Amino acid sequence: MSGNRGERTLFTGISQLVTPGAGPQRGAAMRDLTLISGAAMLVEDGLIAWVGSEKDAPPTDQFHDLGGVAVTPALTDPHTHAVWAGDRLSDFEARVQGVPYETILAQGGGIRATMRATADASLSDLVALAAPRIQALVRSGAATIEIKSGYGLDFDAEIRMLEAVRLLQTHTAATLLPTLLLHVPPAEGRAEYVQDVCQSLIPRVANAKLATAVDVFCEQEAFTGDETRQFFAAARLYGLNIKLHADQFHALGGTELACELGALSVDHLEASGEAQIAALGRSHTVATILPGVTLHLGLPAAPARQLIDAGACVAIGTDLNPGSSPLYSAQLALALGVRLNRLTPAEALTAATVNAAAALGLTDRGALVPGMRADFLALHSGDWRDLAYTLGANPVQSVFVAGREQGQMNLHRQTQEQAL
Ligand code: NIG
Ligand code: FE
Repeated sequence: MSGNRGERTLFTGISQLVTPGAGPQRGAAMRDLTLISGAAMLVEDGLIAWVGSEKDAPPTDQFHDLGGVAVTPALTDPHTHAVWAGDRLSDFEARVQGVPYETILAQGGGIRATMRATADASLSDLVALAAPRIQALVRSGAATIEIKSGYGLDFDAEIRMLEAVRLLQTHTAATLLPTLLLHVPPAEGRAEYVQDVCQSLIPRVANAKLATAVDVFCEQEAFTGDETRQFFAAARLYGLNIKLHADQFHALGGTELACELGALSVDHLEASGEAQIAALGRSHTVATILPGVTLHLGLPAAPARQLIDAGACVAIGTDLNPGSSPLYSAQLALALGVRLNRLTPAEALTAATVNAAAALGLTDRGALVPGMRADFLALHSGDWRDLAYTLGANPVQSVFVAGREQGQMNLHRQTQEQAL
């Protein structure tokens, strides 16, 4: 994907080049950004070869003048459910009039309604529905996007969701990372289902390389800590990473379990208390906050301030999904993290770049330093802080993936079929 063999371009006209350090940043280090004014950046074969002051730039034949704007690393969205069919507009109307999300789910609606609609959709329907959502996330600054399954009523529908991600990947240079999500148990035959997932679905997904990680929704209306442990054991057996939805409504011990087992990330954390904050502060597991859920469901904000103060590595995601977070912008997730979770703009940039990449096990992106992928943003503004400041307009002028500016996603039905 980074391709572009033999290409060597010097990007100039950068009012500010701003970047966190490479690799996951924890605690106070999340605030340590490097800022170079009047900068230039050399990109070779899709990788960053040099950054510095424009007056010190190495000689090059090919230039790209960005026109005096701020440049930051491209964002990573480490948590989305971007493939779904149907809608949750009636749920939304009911919720804003006081019916809780968990009650709708317990009555067979919510996630279960999306599962019925998604099970009825064909592969090409799923691809066509998800493409504009991915396009919106890329335009908002995301060059890497995780996408979960979890709306399959049965195993074939789960696989179809992951195949949709594989197909979508053929239409964008942004990296799409598929995760198998065990979302909610069936109404009957729960123990058998858990066993089948471990013995059949996880091996099938791993063997076909349809996902790089397994995620579980550990919650009162979803899977227990014990079931989560069983899924994680199977995931590990088949060489898949583990991630967790935990502490969204209740802290059931999932966060502690995920930290103990070395999960890549624990996501949500709206109901996390001191024990969970301390566990994340001590571990390498990334704490991913999802401010869109706080806004859309009116939940408490995840305690990101306390997590950072405890030394945790905090990331930000959109959690784009129809039920709890219809948030189609990675930039807006970053900006909401500042307002709702009390991150500083510098912490939020780190959370949405290197730390979000670390939540996916990726250490080759998210910082503008030599050797990293040249995934970066040119803003409309000369001051990078507009990325964290702007609400409701897009401060991102262009998104570069491996040094190439991204345009519209190119999606033709015929090409999809060929790719199959
Ligand atoms: O991350 N909480 C569980 N899963 C999703 C919501 C899915 C849905 O409501 O459709 C989440 O919030
Ligand atoms: Fe989620």
